Amino acid sequence: MNILLIGSGGREHALAWKLAQSPRCTTLWASPGNPGIADVIAARGGQGGCVALALTDHGAIAAFCAEHDIGLVVVGPEAPLVDGLADSLRAAGIAVFGPGKAAAQLEGSKGFTKDLCTRAGIPTAGYVRAKSAAEAHAALAQFSLPVVIKADGLAAGKGVVIPQTAEEAAATVDDMFGGAFGGAGAEVVIEEFLEGEEVSLFAITDGSAIVAFGSAQDHKRVGEGDTGPNTGGMGAYSPAPVLTAELEARAMAEIIAPTVTAMAEAGMPYSGVLFAGLMLTADGPKLIEYNCRFGDPECQVLMMRLESDLVDLLDACARGELAGAAAPTLSTESAMTVVVAAKGYPATPVSGGAIANVAVAEAAGAKVFHAGTANAADGTLVAKGGRVLNVTATGASLQAARDRAYAALSEISYADGFWRGDIGWRELARQSDLS
Ligand code: AMP
Ligand code: GLY
Repeated sequence: MNILLIGSGGREHALAWKLAQSPRCTTLWASPGNPGIADVIAARGGQGGCVALALTDHGAIAAFCAEHDIGLVVVGPEAPLVDGLADSLRAAGIAVFGPGKAAAQLEGSKGFTKDLCTRAGIPTAGYVRAKSAAEAHAALAQFSLPVVIKADGLAAGKGVVIPQTAEEAAATVDDMFGGAFGGAGAEVVIEEFLEGEEVSLFAITDGSAIVAFGSAQDHKRVGEGDTGPNTGGMGAYSPAPVLTAELEARAMAEIIAPTVTAMAEAGMPYSGVLFAGLMLTADGPKLIEYNCRFGDPECQVLMMRLESDLVDLLDACARGELAGAAAPTLSTESAMTVVVAAKGYPATPVSGGAIANVAVAEAAGAKVFHAGTANAADGTLVAKGGRVLNVTATGASLQAARDRAYAALSEISYADGFWRGDIGWRELARQSDLS
């Protein structure tokens, strides 16, 4: 089968790496792809490669699929899904892994998801939706501090503010309705602050059948000790032992399954990966948010652990045949990924810094996924973007995976880069307390 992968980050490099391992993958195309993905495709020989299609031009993508006999499109990032790319391709008879526009509202509209939780009895933080600054100011009186204020729409992971004082809360409301997050803040959700530890749970569903696809924890803050501004994620590991088998079963039964049922009942069946951000509270797991795609960098650690065939899984999901497919198997080993970012990230990353010795790092036992790289005119690898590389390793324990990832990272030469040295600290500390 010929496959088209949409996206250009470390998540998509990890997906490409795993798709390419499948005997069912004949030719792999990626749009726009990146140099790491181009290497994966080149190593297979034959056709395929990275092509620059306009992702908002659904007709052009459908035409490319027809011309290259694409049997499956795998969409990595959320923006094309929220924009309805999967609907356009399905209408043209092309199988797609990823939800349509209506179902992608689970990520695209926080208010939509909160209302769904209310209807389906899904545990989540108490909330009020507000469509004007006046409504939001009035609603704030119902909440104690700290309070959580969220722009309703997609805001590149930056649309959540947790004010500690009433003044800050009022100013946040004014900022959001003043356009600080553009159209995403035309409506806001005000939420109760939940106490607990956060964990991510992944599930694959075709709208009726559901399979669990592992847990992970990431580090969103840029600085060590989880300090400084939020980022897309500076590192992750999987599995997350804090989500015990018992808590995972509860989250599947109380959160994921009722969501899939409620979406089907609402006439917008959800097909793709459901990425649940959970808070493990004293009352059990509660939903913080849904994403309609794999996490980045969580996908990188999941793909390192995936033992079964990714094409089989994504294709069965896309065709609505998940119930009859073999369940995916994840290794019991731990995987960790450390994000190497360009200095200045997440504000203004330094672009163009030279990167060397990626092959040496891989020889040291890691897999290095490209997140934001480019080939310069002279053929050298340079940085292009905030998050640049994801140095990823597995091990019999989280400590072993960590040691291998950092040892490999130390081989990489990239003067303009930085990374956190403490990925996994919370879990590693817990494990060393137990030993
Ligand atoms: P979100 O974009 O919804 O994942 O929110 C970003 C981050 O804000 C989450 O990863 C949490 O750390 C935090 N957060 C969001 N909602 C809540 C909540 N109700 N209580 C506590 N923290 C929250
Ligand atoms: N790493 C968090 C995300 O992909 O949303």
